[in-house]
Amino acid sequence: MKLWGGRFTKPTNQLMEEYTASISFDQKLAQYDIQGSLAHVNMLQACHIISEEDAATIADGLRSVATAIENGEAELHQEHEDIHMNIEKLLIDQVGPVGGKLHTGRSRNDQVALDMRLYLRDTVLEITQLLSDVQASLIKQAEANPDTVLPGYTHLQRAQPVLFAHHLLAYVFMFQRDSERLQDSFKRINQMPLGAGALAGTTFPIDREYTAKELEFDGICENSLDAVSDRDFVVEFLADASLIAMHLSRMSEELVQWSSAEFDFIELDDAFCTGSSMMPQKKNPDVPELVRGKTGRIYGHLQGMLTMLKGLPLAYNKDMQEDKEGMFDAAETLQGALALFADMTKTMHVKKDSMYQAVRQDYSNATDLADYLTEKGMPFRQSHETVGSIVLHCIHHQKYLLDLTLDEFQTFSHLIDADIFDVLDPKTVVNARRSAGGTADESVREQLRKAHAFINEN
Ligand code: ARG
Repeated sequence: MKLWGGRFTKPTNQLMEEYTASISFDQKLAQYDIQGSLAHVNMLQACHIISEEDAATIADGLRSVATAIENGEAELHQEHEDIHMNIEKLLIDQVGPVGGKLHTGRSRNDQVALDMRLYLRDTVLEITQLLSDVQASLIKQAEANPDTVLPGYTHLQRAQPVLFAHHLLAYVFMFQRDSERLQDSFKRINQMPLGAGALAGTTFPIDREYTAKELEFDGICENSLDAVSDRDFVVEFLADASLIAMHLSRMSEELVQWSSAEFDFIELDDAFCTGSSMMPQKKNPDVPELVRGKTGRIYGHLQGMLTMLKGLPLAYNKDMQEDKEGMFDAAETLQGALALFADMTKTMHVKKDSMYQAVRQDYSNATDLADYLTEKGMPFRQSHETVGSIVLHCIHHQKYLLDLTLDEFQTFSHLIDADIFDVLDPKTVVNARRSAGGTADESVREQLRKAHAFINEN
């Protein structure tokens, strides 16, 4: 017998029951659903809508249903469609018809919106914590390698050397914005929809503020139609999740490149790599590859949610049951990636010498030679031209700038003196970029100070 069976004369079609049920996935909301019901029943009693005795029976019943579900002892049935009706059915089986008073002044429409918000509230806090863990690992690596230099790239061509710590800190700042976005979204998630009823409110003298306070919401959704219709807070979460995934994916791409023999800048710990079934020598960076690969599904969930919502008239429509799987999957995919990233980046081996060789064997100090000539009075455009021909000369003679003799330098310009060799040293090149936010040692130390301050606050 269905809980809503009163106006029906026939059993439901089997296929339609399978097709429309959400219990296979919305059971993830079980504990939140019960948390919401406990607050609701307290409110019903406080407002004298149900008796103290009935409220206590219902609350006890709900707690034992919670325990049964937690221990895997409760049977959830597709016949009861979703987690809300399964729990109500379990409650009524447990405490008898008085359990039927729980749903007074409530609809599944406001109930499901509440459960989603309770779930996301926890999830957003968990993801913020995981982001902090990743940031902490990156900061640790930055501090463990304070003077490690590697080529900085534009167009994936070696451009100017940068401190490895500077490169890692770039991601720390990206993850900081991600974290701030999530923290900001919390205040929009944390509005209480219960009491909106099916769409228009309820005839019972409920106290929505009471329920909001019980559940530690910042306030109530002010319009009942809005409360049950919108899922913008889910869209916002998926957008935030997409940005995090994008940042993780770019970093993944770099970790994959850096692990290759061609770059040879890092080695990921064995614990985070796999071998090949055929080629005995292989050690593959599966984790960053898969994090990069899974980014698509998070973007997909964002697109799916926006599309699902775009044509819906107010208020609730069954389409909206499609709001859950993408949200769960995005959250779980991200939680997995972030947890792995924190450990993987903390344990990776940084090949300092190999990075230094890469910096030593390129022309990434050419800008500094041009700046040197400019400081000595040559107009920058002419310095650029002169250094261009010096680089070309080097390429023809298979040399780097630091391999040239002073005599060779001076055939291009008499402005060049013996101090040029120090100016072109990679360490000097890095430390010359002292502008705020630049890669010089002191600027990177300043960034580290800021990073420590904000991750302590997150
Ligand atoms: N399982 C439903 C969902 O997730 C719960 C709300 C059902 N409401 C309704 N009027 N059929 O959307």
